Amino acid sequence: PATYPFHGVHQAGVLTPGPSQKQKHAAFVALDATAANRNDLKAVFQTLTDRARALTAGGPAPDLGVGQPPADSDVLGPAIPADGLTVTVSVGSSLFDDRYGLASARPKKLTPMRVFPNDALDDAWTGGDVMLQLCAHHPDTVHHALRDITKHTRGGLQPRWRMDGFDSPPRPSGTSRNLLGFKDGTANPTGSEAASLIWIDDPSEPAWTQGGSYQVVRVIRMLTEFWDRVSLQEQQTMFGRRRDSGAPLDGNAEFDTPDYAKDPKGDVIPLDAHIRLANPRTADTANQRLLRRSYNYDRGLDTNGDLDVGHVFTCYQQDVVRQFETVQLRLVDEPLVDYVQPFGGGYFLTLPGVRDADDHYASALL
Ligand code: HEM
Repeated sequence: PATYPFHGVHQAGVLTPGPSQKQKHAAFVALDATAANRNDLKAVFQTLTDRARALTAGGPAPDLGVGQPPADSDVLGPAIPADGLTVTVSVGSSLFDDRYGLASARPKKLTPMRVFPNDALDDAWTGGDVMLQLCAHHPDTVHHALRDITKHTRGGLQPRWRMDGFDSPPRPSGTSRNLLGFKDGTANPTGSEAASLIWIDDPSEPAWTQGGSYQVVRVIRMLTEFWDRVSLQEQQTMFGRRRDSGAPLDGNAEFDTPDYAKDPKGDVIPLDAHIRLANPRTADTANQRLLRRSYNYDRGLDTNGDLDVGHVFTCYQQDVVRQFETVQLRLVDEPLVDYVQPFGGGYFLTLPGVRDADDHYASALL
């Protein structure tokens, strides 16, 4: 769609219909709160709400006359299009470290991101008090939104790190591909099943979090020079899926369901294949499923002239311990680890939705 509704019980930009229906361009921007006190922090969240509401609706900016800096950059021209923009705002555990007297409101499962075996986390790419996920159909729309938001929130929110992302069209059909060449997002939950796995609805969590979601962002480099020297068969057994169609190795079409009960020794889909470890498809692991919403990144070359590419792995869940961490711990030492390098990211709590024109982000918290 050209416009995603801004007001609602949940924020937009999490459940966009269908795994490949997500907008093609994104920016993930972590910011640190520099507001002097809780009142100023509330004011900056109100400003952020106003800007997100205006930008996601589109429409001309006010004319302030030639004697003023213009209200808008005009990067998108005078008639600002909505262009499928979503602004999804999340908060990190460091916001609750009690600079702002919020310690008692800390979500139960919100901690700094765990360091997993094979991680090489760089502090400059890790954490943040706030995570902004901006998504739109074109990169200039993402740029415009980020430029507007940072202009209006400077002083209260200081950008810390940023990674831009892109998604491919179906090639040739079905789910879009990551930069290892495999369709990525096929087995995502959809519809009401997805909703029941991602939105927080838990009496043991603070009331202000209800309708929100735990967001995990992992910035993961892909070592494509190494990957491109691996045989097709080995690539496919690492994932458990065919590269051409995305079908599971025991199936014919992308959306066929793998049947692990028929292959207990892993003769067809190895026991350590990515999809088999990530989702063993047993009754007791069903509530560990999560919603992935990742984007490719390409930021040029490293100092050796190697491609500096990968993906911003992003997933949403009700419970970061029960879902993301359980899955991630099963994936430790999977064969794929030789070809990928996580170096940043964080755990965040995606705020509940902004209900109406009088509401603002985190209104039940601030
Ligand atoms: C499935 C790629 C990391 C969780 C897949 C698939 C691919 C893929 C190609 C198969 C198609 C699909 O169903 O989407 C990657 C790459 C990663 C990565 C390149 C980079 C390191 C992760 C991480 C997690 C994860 C960190 C969570 C901790 C899953 C899950 C599935 C999946 C839950 C679906 C399994 C199923 O339900 O059959 N991934 N993935 N992946 N991945 Fe990953």
